[in-house]
Amino acid sequence: SILVLTFLTMPLASVSASSGTTDEYSLVFDTAKYTMKTLTLNGKSITYRAYENIVYVKYPVDTNYEIMNIYVPEEYYEDKSIGNYNAKTAPIFLPNTVGGYMPGAPGSPGQDQNGSPNAALVALSKGYVVAEPGARGRTTQDKNSLYTGKAPACIVDLKAAVRYLRYNQKRIPGDTEKIISNGTSAGGALSALLGASGNNKDYEPYLKAIGAADARDDIFAVSSYCPITNLDNADMAYEWLFNGINGYSRMMAPGPLPPDRLSPPVNQGMPAAPPKLPEVKGTMTADQIKVSDELKALFPAYLNDLGLKKSDGTALTLDANGDGPFKDYVKSFVVASAQKALDHGTDLSGLTWITIKDRIVTDIDFDKYLNYATRMKSAPAFDALDLSNPENSLFGTATVNAQHFTQFSKDHSTVGGSLAAASIVKLLNPMNYIGTKGTTTAQHWRIRHGAVDKDTALAIPVILATKLENKGFDVDFAVPWGQGHGGDYDLNELFVWIDKVCA
Ligand code: DHB
Repeated sequence: SILVLTFLTMPLASVSASSGTTDEYSLVFDTAKYTMKTLTLNGKSITYRAYENIVYVKYPVDTNYEIMNIYVPEEYYEDKSIGNYNAKTAPIFLPNTVGGYMPGAPGSPGQDQNGSPNAALVALSKGYVVAEPGARGRTTQDKNSLYTGKAPACIVDLKAAVRYLRYNQKRIPGDTEKIISNGTSAGGALSALLGASGNNKDYEPYLKAIGAADARDDIFAVSSYCPITNLDNADMAYEWLFNGINGYSRMMAPGPLPPDRLSPPVNQGMPAAPPKLPEVKGTMTADQIKVSDELKALFPAYLNDLGLKKSDGTALTLDANGDGPFKDYVKSFVVASAQKALDHGTDLSGLTWITIKDRIVTDIDFDKYLNYATRMKSAPAFDALDLSNPENSLFGTATVNAQHFTQFSKDHSTVGGSLAAASIVKLLNPMNYIGTKGTTTAQHWRIRHGAVDKDTALAIPVILATKLENKGFDVDFAVPWGQGHGGDYDLNELFVWIDKVCA
Protein backbone atom coordinates (compact mmCIF):
# COMPACT_ATOMS: atom_id res chain seq x y z
CA SER A 1 0.00 0.00 0.00
CA ILE A 2 2.97 2.30 0.49
CA LEU A 3 3.79 1.73 -3.13
CA VAL A 4 0.29 2.71 -4.23
CA LEU A 5 0.40 5.85 -2.14
CA THR A 6 3.72 6.87 -3.64
CA PHE A 7 2.35 6.43 -7.12
CA LEU A 8 -0.71 8.49 -6.38
CA THR A 9 1.22 11.42 -5.04
CA MET A 10 3.83 11.45 -7.78
CA PRO A 11 3.23 13.68 -10.76
CA LEU A 12 1.88 11.84 -13.77
CA ALA A 13 5.01 12.31 -15.82
CA SER A 14 7.20 10.69 -13.20
CA VAL A 15 4.84 7.74 -12.99
CA SER A 16 5.14 7.11 -16.65
CA ALA A 17 8.83 7.92 -16.72
CA SER A 18 9.59 5.38 -14.03
CA SER A 19 7.24 2.74 -15.32
CA GLY A 20 8.08 3.49 -18.95
CA THR A 21 4.63 2.47 -20.09
CA THR A 22 1.20 3.94 -20.68
CA ASP A 23 1.26 7.67 -20.01
CA GLU A 24 4.32 8.71 -21.91
CA TYR A 25 4.32 9.10 -25.65
CA SER A 26 6.72 7.00 -27.63
CA LEU A 27 9.52 8.82 -29.40
CA VAL A 28 9.78 6.00 -31.91
CA PHE A 29 8.31 7.01 -35.27
CA ASP A 30 5.65 4.59 -36.47
CA THR A 31 6.48 3.94 -40.14
CA ALA A 32 3.14 2.21 -40.74
CA LYS A 33 0.86 5.02 -39.62
CA TYR A 34 0.28 7.10 -42.73
CA THR A 35 -2.24 7.97 -45.36
CA MET A 36 -1.45 8.26 -49.05
CA LYS A 37 -2.22 11.63 -50.57
CA THR A 38 -1.96 13.18 -53.99
CA LEU A 39 -1.82 16.84 -54.96
CA THR A 40 -1.13 18.44 -58.30
CA LEU A 41 1.29 21.22 -59.02
CA ASN A 42 1.58 22.69 -62.51
CA GLY A 43 -0.33 19.73 -63.89
CA LYS A 44 2.07 17.24 -62.33
CA SER A 45 0.68 14.97 -59.64
CA ILE A 46 2.63 14.47 -56.46
CA THR A 47 1.94 11.39 -54.38
CA TYR A 48 3.24 11.29 -50.84
CA ARG A 49 2.86 9.57 -47.51
CA ALA A 50 1.30 11.80 -44.88
CA TYR A 51 2.28 11.03 -41.29
CA GLU A 52 0.23 13.50 -39.31
CA ASN A 53 -0.22 14.74 -35.76
CA ILE A 54 2.78 12.88 -34.37
CA VAL A 55 3.47 13.88 -30.78
CA TYR A 56 7.20 14.62 -30.81
CA VAL A 57 7.97 14.61 -27.06
CA LYS A 58 7.39 12.09 -24.30
CA TYR A 59 5.56 14.45 -21.94
CA PRO A 60 3.71 16.98 -24.06
CA VAL A 61 2.15 19.95 -22.32
CA ASP A 62 -0.22 20.59 -25.20
CA THR A 63 -0.97 17.87 -27.76
CA ASN A 64 -2.65 20.41 -30.04
CA TYR A 65 0.69 21.99 -30.76
CA GLU A 66 3.57 19.69 -29.73
CA ILE A 67 2.86 17.60 -32.78
CA MET A 68 4.40 17.33 -36.22
CA ASN A 69 3.27 16.41 -39.72
CA ILE A 70 5.78 14.59 -41.88
CA TYR A 71 5.35 14.22 -45.63
CA VAL A 72 7.48 11.97 -47.79
CA PRO A 73 7.35 11.62 -51.59
CA GLU A 74 6.17 8.10 -52.44
CA GLU A 75 9.12 7.69 -54.83
CA TYR A 76 11.39 7.28 -51.82
CA TYR A 77 9.65 4.03 -50.90
CA GLU A 78 10.18 2.74 -54.43
CA ASP A 79 13.94 3.33 -54.53
CA LYS A 80 13.48 6.17 -56.99
CA SER A 81 15.07 9.61 -57.17
CA ILE A 82 13.52 13.02 -57.62
CA GLY A 83 15.97 15.29 -59.37
CA ASN A 84 19.26 14.80 -57.55
CA TYR A 85 17.65 13.58 -54.36
CA ASN A 86 16.84 10.12 -53.05
CA ALA A 87 15.60 8.66 -49.75
CA LYS A 88 19.07 9.05 -48.24
CA THR A 89 20.00 12.49 -49.53
CA ALA A 90 16.73 14.43 -49.63
CA PRO A 91 16.92 17.62 -47.57
CA ILE A 92 14.28 18.03 -44.87
CA PHE A 93 12.28 21.24 -45.20
CA LEU A 94 11.02 22.39 -41.80
CA PRO A 95 8.49 25.24 -42.02
CA ASN A 96 6.71 26.54 -38.94
CA THR A 97 3.38 28.40 -38.98
CA VAL A 98 3.98 30.65 -36.00
CA GLY A 99 2.66 34.21 -36.37
CA GLY A 100 2.39 36.87 -33.70
CA TYR A 101 4.08 34.52 -31.23
CA MET A 102 0.73 32.74 -31.10
CA PRO A 103 0.62 28.95 -30.99
CA GLY A 104 1.20 27.50 -34.44
CA ALA A 105 -0.50 24.27 -35.49
CA PRO A 106 1.51 22.09 -37.87
CA GLY A 107 0.98 23.05 -41.50
CA SER A 108 0.46 20.84 -44.51
CA PRO A 109 1.10 20.96 -48.25
CA GLY A 110 -1.59 22.78 -50.17
CA GLN A 111 -2.44 26.32 -51.17
CA ASP A 112 -1.54 29.57 -49.51
CA GLN A 113 -4.09 32.32 -48.89
CA ASN A 114 -3.73 33.55 -52.48
CA GLY A 115 -4.45 30.12 -53.91
CA SER A 116 -0.82 29.54 -54.90
CA PRO A 117 1.02 26.35 -53.95
CA ASN A 118 2.51 26.80 -50.49
CA ALA A 119 6.15 26.24 -49.61
CA ALA A 120 5.54 22.70 -48.35
CA LEU A 121 3.90 21.64 -51.61
CA VAL A 122 6.67 23.18 -53.69
CA ALA A 123 9.23 21.44 -51.47
CA LEU A 124 7.56 18.04 -51.93
CA SER A 125 7.42 18.55 -55.68
CA LYS A 126 11.17 19.13 -55.69
CA GLY A 127 11.87 15.95 -53.75
CA TYR A 128 12.28 17.33 -50.25
CA VAL A 129 10.99 15.52 -47.21
CA VAL A 130 8.72 18.00 -45.42
CA ALA A 131 8.46 18.09 -41.63
CA GLU A 132 5.98 20.60 -40.25
CA PRO A 133 6.16 21.06 -36.50
CA GLY A 134 3.58 22.81 -34.40
CA ALA A 135 4.70 24.88 -31.44
CA ARG A 136 3.13 26.28 -28.31
CA GLY A 137 2.47 30.01 -28.16
CA ARG A 138 1.73 32.80 -25.77
CA THR A 139 -2.05 32.44 -25.39
CA THR A 140 -2.77 28.82 -24.53
CA GLN A 141 -3.91 27.86 -21.05
CA ASP A 142 -4.46 24.52 -19.36
CA LYS A 143 -7.61 23.52 -17.49
CA ASN A 144 -6.34 25.32 -14.40
CA SER A 145 -5.95 28.53 -16.43
CA LEU A 146 -2.17 28.37 -16.25
CA TYR A 147 -0.41 29.64 -19.36
CA THR A 148 1.41 26.81 -21.09
CA GLY A 149 3.14 28.49 -24.00
CA LYS A 150 5.00 31.52 -22.68
CA ALA A 151 8.67 31.98 -23.59
CA PRO A 152 10.70 29.89 -24.13
CA ALA A 153 8.05 27.26 -25.05
CA CYS A 154 7.94 28.16 -28.77
CA ILE A 155 11.66 27.60 -29.36
CA VAL A 156 11.87 24.62 -27.02
CA ASP A 157 9.16 22.90 -29.05
CA LEU A 158 10.89 23.51 -32.38
CA LYS A 159 14.13 22.14 -30.96
CA ALA A 160 12.28 19.08 -29.67
CA ALA A 161 10.87 18.52 -33.17
CA VAL A 162 14.40 18.62 -34.66
CA ARG A 163 15.58 16.15 -32.04
CA TYR A 164 12.70 13.83 -32.89
CA LEU A 165 13.73 13.84 -36.54
CA ARG A 166 17.33 12.98 -35.66
CA TYR A 167 16.28 10.34 -33.15
CA ASN A 168 14.26 8.69 -35.93
CA GLN A 169 16.68 9.26 -38.78
CA LYS A 170 16.77 5.55 -39.68
CA ARG A 171 12.96 5.40 -39.82
CA ILE A 172 12.22 8.52 -41.86
CA PRO A 173 13.61 9.19 -45.35
CA GLY A 174 15.67 12.33 -45.71
CA ASP A 175 19.03 13.61 -44.50
CA THR A 176 18.89 14.99 -40.96
CA GLU A 177 22.18 16.79 -41.65
CA LYS A 178 20.27 18.88 -44.21
CA ILE A 179 17.40 20.32 -42.18
CA ILE A 180 16.30 23.72 -43.48
CA SER A 181 14.02 25.75 -41.26
CA ASN A 182 11.55 28.29 -42.70
CA GLY A 183 9.27 30.86 -41.10
CA THR A 184 7.80 34.33 -41.39
CA SER A 185 7.71 37.19 -38.89
CA ALA A 186 7.52 35.67 -35.39
CA GLY A 187 7.99 32.37 -37.23
CA GLY A 188 10.97 33.89 -39.07
CA ALA A 189 12.40 34.92 -35.72
CA LEU A 190 11.99 31.36 -34.42
CA SER A 191 13.55 29.97 -37.57
CA ALA A 192 16.58 32.21 -36.98
CA LEU A 193 16.71 31.33 -33.29
CA LEU A 194 16.56 27.61 -34.08
CA GLY A 195 19.47 28.04 -36.49
CA ALA A 196 21.50 30.27 -34.19
CA SER A 197 21.28 28.26 -30.98
CA GLY A 198 21.78 24.61 -32.01
CA ASN A 199 22.67 22.27 -29.13
CA ASN A 200 23.20 25.10 -26.65
CA LYS A 201 22.81 23.81 -23.10
CA ASP A 202 20.70 26.79 -21.94
CA TYR A 203 17.61 25.06 -23.37
CA GLU A 204 18.36 21.66 -21.90
CA PRO A 205 16.23 21.84 -18.74
CA TYR A 206 13.19 22.84 -20.78
CA LEU A 207 13.77 20.07 -23.30
CA LYS A 208 14.21 17.53 -20.50
CA ALA A 209 10.99 18.64 -18.84
CA ILE A 210 8.90 17.83 -21.91
CA GLY A 211 10.75 14.62 -22.64
CA ALA A 212 12.45 15.66 -25.86
CA ALA A 213 14.51 12.99 -27.57
CA ASP A 214 18.15 12.76 -26.59
CA ALA A 215 19.64 13.94 -29.87
CA ARG A 216 21.25 17.02 -31.39
CA ASP A 217 19.04 19.97 -32.32
CA ASP A 218 21.30 21.94 -34.66
CA ILE A 219 20.13 22.49 -38.23
CA PHE A 220 21.83 23.00 -41.57
CA ALA A 221 20.22 26.15 -42.93
CA VAL A 222 17.79 28.91 -42.09
CA SER A 223 15.23 30.69 -44.22
CA SER A 224 13.86 33.65 -42.31
CA TYR A 225 11.34 36.14 -43.66
CA CYS A 226 10.96 39.46 -41.82
CA PRO A 227 12.11 38.12 -38.47
CA ILE A 228 10.55 39.95 -35.51
CA THR A 229 13.66 39.20 -33.52
CA ASN A 230 16.21 40.70 -31.14
CA LEU A 231 13.15 41.85 -29.21
CA ASP A 232 15.01 43.28 -26.24
CA ASN A 233 16.83 45.75 -28.52
CA ALA A 234 14.17 46.27 -31.16
CA ASP A 235 12.53 49.30 -29.48
CA MET A 236 15.77 51.30 -29.70
CA ALA A 237 16.31 50.23 -33.30
CA TYR A 238 12.76 51.23 -34.23
CA GLU A 239 13.18 54.74 -32.82
CA TRP A 240 16.65 55.13 -34.29
CA LEU A 241 15.01 54.55 -37.67
CA PHE A 242 11.63 56.27 -37.31
CA ASN A 243 12.30 59.05 -34.79
CA GLY A 244 10.87 62.28 -36.19
CA ILE A 245 8.02 60.52 -37.93
CA ASN A 246 5.19 60.90 -35.42
CA GLY A 247 2.25 59.58 -37.40
CA TYR A 248 1.74 55.84 -37.46
CA SER A 249 -0.57 53.68 -39.48
CA ARG A 250 -1.24 50.01 -39.81
CA MET A 251 -3.87 47.63 -41.03
CA MET A 252 -5.92 46.06 -38.30
CA ALA A 253 -5.13 42.39 -37.94
CA PRO A 254 -7.90 39.82 -38.23
CA GLY A 255 -8.41 37.47 -35.28
CA PRO A 256 -7.08 35.53 -33.53
CA LEU A 257 -4.20 38.01 -33.42
CA PRO A 258 -4.96 40.87 -31.08
CA PRO A 259 -6.69 43.68 -32.94
CA ASP A 260 -4.67 46.72 -33.97
CA ARG A 261 -1.32 45.36 -32.83
CA LEU A 262 -0.07 43.44 -35.83
CA SER A 263 -0.21 43.76 -39.54
CA PRO A 264 -2.26 41.04 -41.21
CA PRO A 265 -0.59 37.65 -40.94
CA VAL A 266 0.75 36.32 -44.16
CA ASN A 267 2.15 32.95 -43.22
CA GLN A 268 1.80 29.85 -45.24
CA GLY A 269 -0.79 27.49 -43.90
CA MET A 270 -2.92 30.29 -42.53
CA PRO A 271 -6.54 30.82 -43.48
CA ALA A 272 -7.31 33.47 -46.06
CA ALA A 273 -7.19 37.00 -44.68
CA PRO A 274 -10.32 39.12 -45.04
CA PRO A 275 -10.04 41.19 -48.21
CA LYS A 276 -10.13 44.64 -46.65
CA LEU A 277 -8.96 45.46 -43.17
CA PRO A 278 -9.61 48.73 -41.40
CA GLU A 279 -6.65 51.05 -41.12
CA VAL A 280 -5.58 52.24 -37.69
CA LYS A 281 -4.02 55.69 -37.83
CA GLY A 282 -2.74 57.95 -35.13
CA THR A 283 -0.17 60.48 -34.07
CA MET A 284 2.18 59.86 -31.20
CA THR A 285 1.51 61.82 -28.02
CA ALA A 286 4.07 64.16 -26.49
CA ASP A 287 4.95 61.38 -24.02
CA GLN A 288 5.49 58.89 -26.83
CA ILE A 289 7.67 61.37 -28.73
CA LYS A 290 9.79 61.80 -25.60
CA VAL A 291 10.09 58.01 -25.32
CA SER A 292 11.12 57.91 -28.98
CA ASP A 293 13.86 60.49 -28.38
CA GLU A 294 15.16 58.56 -25.37
CA LEU A 295 15.17 55.20 -27.11
CA LYS A 296 16.85 56.60 -30.19
CA ALA A 297 19.60 58.06 -28.01
CA LEU A 298 20.25 54.62 -26.48
CA PHE A 299 20.71 52.81 -29.80
CA PRO A 300 24.27 53.88 -30.79
CA ALA A 301 25.78 52.44 -27.60
CA TYR A 302 24.07 49.10 -28.21
CA LEU A 303 25.07 49.05 -31.86
CA ASN A 304 28.68 50.11 -31.28
CA ASP A 305 29.07 47.41 -28.63
CA LEU A 306 28.29 44.75 -31.23
CA GLY A 307 31.50 45.64 -33.08
CA LEU A 308 29.99 44.81 -36.47
CA LYS A 309 32.08 45.13 -39.60
CA LYS A 310 31.43 45.41 -43.30
CA SER A 311 32.92 42.65 -45.45
CA ASP A 312 35.81 45.01 -46.31
CA GLY A 313 36.57 45.41 -42.61
CA THR A 314 35.03 48.90 -42.16
CA ALA A 315 33.71 49.30 -38.61
CA LEU A 316 29.94 49.79 -38.64
CA THR A 317 29.51 52.40 -35.95
CA LEU A 318 27.18 55.29 -35.13
CA ASP A 319 27.87 58.64 -33.52
CA ALA A 320 25.80 60.00 -30.64
CA ASN A 321 23.27 61.43 -33.12
CA GLY A 322 22.78 58.04 -34.71
CA ASP A 323 24.69 58.91 -37.89
CA GLY A 324 27.68 57.12 -39.31
CA PRO A 325 28.82 54.08 -41.28
CA PHE A 326 26.11 51.77 -39.92
CA LYS A 327 23.37 54.10 -41.13
CA ASP A 328 24.98 54.31 -44.59
CA TYR A 329 25.19 50.53 -44.57
CA VAL A 330 21.50 50.11 -43.77
CA LYS A 331 20.72 52.59 -46.53
CA SER A 332 22.87 50.63 -48.99
CA PHE A 333 20.44 47.71 -48.81
CA VAL A 334 17.59 49.98 -49.86
CA VAL A 335 19.72 51.34 -52.72
CA ALA A 336 20.50 47.78 -53.83
CA SER A 337 16.81 46.94 -53.60
CA ALA A 338 15.82 49.88 -55.80
CA GLN A 339 18.56 48.97 -58.27
CA LYS A 340 17.31 45.41 -58.56
CA ALA A 341 13.74 46.64 -59.07
CA LEU A 342 14.95 49.05 -61.75
CA ASP A 343 16.93 46.27 -63.47
CA HIS A 344 13.75 44.21 -63.54
CA GLY A 345 11.79 46.98 -65.23
CA THR A 346 10.02 48.58 -62.26
CA ASP A 347 9.18 52.22 -62.99
CA LEU A 348 10.72 54.25 -60.16
CA SER A 349 10.41 57.63 -61.89
CA GLY A 350 7.57 58.74 -59.59
CA LEU A 351 9.77 58.40 -56.53
CA THR A 352 11.69 61.67 -56.61
CA TRP A 353 13.78 60.73 -53.57
CA ILE A 354 15.61 58.13 -55.64
CA THR A 355 18.48 59.51 -57.72
CA ILE A 356 18.98 57.54 -60.92
CA LYS A 357 21.75 58.25 -63.43
CA ASP A 358 22.10 56.12 -66.56
CA ARG A 359 19.94 53.39 -65.03
CA ILE A 360 22.09 53.32 -61.90
CA VAL A 361 20.56 54.17 -58.52
CA THR A 362 23.24 56.50 -57.21
CA ASP A 363 21.48 57.67 -54.05
CA ILE A 364 18.28 57.76 -52.07
CA ASP A 365 17.11 60.38 -49.60
CA PHE A 366 16.89 58.15 -46.56
CA ASP A 367 14.51 60.37 -44.58
CA LYS A 368 12.14 60.57 -47.52
CA TYR A 369 12.35 56.82 -47.96
CA LEU A 370 11.32 56.39 -44.31
CA ASN A 371 8.37 58.74 -44.79
CA TYR A 372 7.38 56.67 -47.82
CA ALA A 373 7.65 53.43 -45.84
CA THR A 374 5.91 55.13 -42.86
CA ARG A 375 5.94 54.28 -39.18
CA MET A 376 3.59 51.48 -38.15
CA LYS A 377 4.04 51.32 -34.39
CA SER A 378 4.09 54.00 -31.71
CA ALA A 379 6.99 54.13 -29.24
CA PRO A 380 7.97 51.79 -27.74
CA ALA A 381 7.21 49.47 -30.63
CA PHE A 382 7.58 46.16 -28.77
CA ASP A 383 7.79 46.46 -25.00
CA ALA A 384 4.59 48.50 -24.56
CA LEU A 385 4.48 50.66 -21.43
CA ASP A 386 0.98 49.32 -20.74
CA LEU A 387 1.96 45.69 -21.52
CA SER A 388 -0.46 45.58 -24.46
CA ASN A 389 1.84 44.24 -27.19
CA PRO A 390 2.12 40.59 -28.30
CA GLU A 391 5.73 40.57 -27.12
CA ASN A 392 4.66 41.50 -23.57
CA SER A 393 2.42 38.47 -23.65
CA LEU A 394 5.22 36.28 -25.03
CA PHE A 395 7.29 37.08 -21.94
CA GLY A 396 4.53 36.34 -19.43
CA THR A 397 4.67 33.39 -17.05
CA ALA A 398 2.36 30.52 -16.16
CA THR A 399 0.40 32.92 -13.95
CA VAL A 400 1.17 36.40 -15.31
CA ASN A 401 -0.13 37.12 -18.80
CA ALA A 402 2.24 39.91 -19.79
CA GLN A 403 5.53 41.37 -18.60
CA HIS A 404 8.14 43.87 -19.64
CA PHE A 405 11.34 42.53 -21.15
CA THR A 406 13.46 45.69 -21.26
CA GLN A 407 14.66 47.71 -18.30
CA PHE A 408 13.59 50.87 -20.16
CA SER A 409 9.93 49.93 -20.38
CA LYS A 410 9.93 48.46 -16.88
CA ASP A 411 11.22 51.83 -15.64
CA HIS A 412 8.59 53.71 -17.66
CA SER A 413 5.74 51.25 -17.08
CA THR A 414 2.33 52.89 -16.79
CA VAL A 415 0.84 49.77 -15.20
CA GLY A 416 3.54 48.77 -12.73
CA GLY A 417 4.44 45.77 -14.88
CA SER A 418 7.04 43.23 -13.78
CA LEU A 419 10.22 42.40 -15.70
CA ALA A 420 10.72 38.98 -17.29
CA ALA A 421 13.69 36.97 -16.01
CA ALA A 422 16.85 37.91 -17.91
CA SER A 423 17.62 34.21 -18.39
CA ILE A 424 14.35 33.77 -20.33
CA VAL A 425 14.74 36.93 -22.43
CA LYS A 426 18.21 35.64 -23.35
CA LEU A 427 16.77 32.36 -24.68
CA LEU A 428 14.63 34.17 -27.26
CA ASN A 429 17.38 36.24 -28.85
CA PRO A 430 19.56 34.59 -31.54
CA MET A 431 22.15 37.37 -31.15
CA ASN A 432 23.20 35.74 -27.86
CA TYR A 433 24.11 32.44 -29.52
CA ILE A 434 25.52 33.02 -33.02
CA GLY A 435 28.87 31.23 -33.24
CA THR A 436 29.31 31.02 -29.48
CA LYS A 437 31.13 28.29 -27.59
CA GLY A 438 28.96 25.23 -26.99
CA THR A 439 26.64 26.16 -29.84
CA THR A 440 26.31 24.73 -33.35
CA THR A 441 25.00 27.63 -35.44
CA ALA A 442 23.53 26.78 -38.87
CA GLN A 443 26.02 27.29 -41.70
CA HIS A 444 23.68 28.81 -44.29
CA TRP A 445 21.25 31.70 -43.95
CA ARG A 446 18.72 33.35 -46.22
CA ILE A 447 17.12 36.42 -44.65
CA ARG A 448 14.55 38.70 -46.30
CA HIS A 449 12.97 41.92 -45.08
CA GLY A 450 10.67 43.88 -47.41
CA ALA A 451 11.63 47.43 -48.35
CA VAL A 452 8.31 48.73 -46.97
CA ASP A 453 8.07 46.36 -44.01
CA LYS A 454 7.90 48.36 -40.79
CA ASP A 455 6.80 45.71 -38.33
CA THR A 456 10.36 45.96 -37.10
CA ALA A 457 13.20 48.32 -38.05
CA LEU A 458 15.30 47.35 -41.07
CA ALA A 459 18.28 47.70 -38.73
CA ILE A 460 17.24 44.48 -36.96
CA PRO A 461 17.69 42.04 -39.88
CA VAL A 462 20.78 44.00 -40.98
CA ILE A 463 22.32 43.48 -37.54
CA LEU A 464 21.42 39.78 -37.59
CA ALA A 465 22.81 39.22 -41.08
CA THR A 466 26.00 41.17 -40.37
CA LYS A 467 26.71 39.42 -37.09
CA LEU A 468 26.33 36.06 -38.88
CA GLU A 469 28.63 37.16 -41.70
CA ASN A 470 31.21 38.49 -39.27
CA LYS A 471 31.20 35.13 -37.50
CA GLY A 472 31.91 33.40 -40.79
CA PHE A 473 28.51 32.03 -41.73
CA ASP A 474 27.14 32.01 -45.27
CA VAL A 475 24.47 34.73 -45.52
CA ASP A 476 22.17 35.74 -48.36
CA PHE A 477 20.39 38.88 -47.17
CA ALA A 478 18.22 41.11 -49.33
CA VAL A 479 15.48 43.69 -49.08
CA PRO A 480 12.89 43.02 -51.80
CA TRP A 481 11.51 46.18 -53.35
CA GLY A 482 7.85 47.03 -52.68
CA GLN A 483 7.52 44.14 -50.28
CA GLY A 484 5.73 44.62 -46.97
CA HIS A 485 5.46 42.31 -44.01
CA GLY A 486 5.22 38.81 -45.42
CA GLY A 487 6.97 35.63 -46.43
CA ASP A 488 7.17 32.81 -48.95
CA TYR A 489 6.61 35.27 -51.82
CA ASP A 490 9.62 34.10 -53.82
CA LEU A 491 9.48 30.31 -53.53
CA ASN A 492 11.33 29.69 -56.78
CA GLU A 493 14.30 31.71 -55.59
CA LEU A 494 14.07 30.17 -52.14
CA PHE A 495 14.34 26.62 -53.44
CA VAL A 496 17.08 27.53 -55.91
CA TRP A 497 19.00 28.81 -52.89
CA ILE A 498 18.28 25.70 -50.81
CA ASP A 499 19.28 23.39 -53.67
CA LYS A 500 22.50 25.37 -54.03
CA VAL A 501 23.51 25.21 -50.38
CA CYS A 502 22.60 21.52 -50.19
CA ALA A 503 24.61 20.61 -53.30
C1 DHB B 1 4.30 39.58 -35.89
C2 DHB B 1 4.16 40.89 -36.29
C3 DHB B 1 4.48 41.91 -35.43
O1 DHB B 1 4.38 43.20 -35.80
C4 DHB B 1 4.95 41.61 -34.15
O2 DHB B 1 5.26 42.62 -33.33
C5 DHB B 1 5.11 40.29 -33.76
C6 DHB B 1 4.79 39.27 -34.63
C7 DHB B 1 3.92 38.48 -36.83
O3 DHB B 1 3.33 38.78 -37.89
O4 DHB B 1 4.24 37.33 -36.55
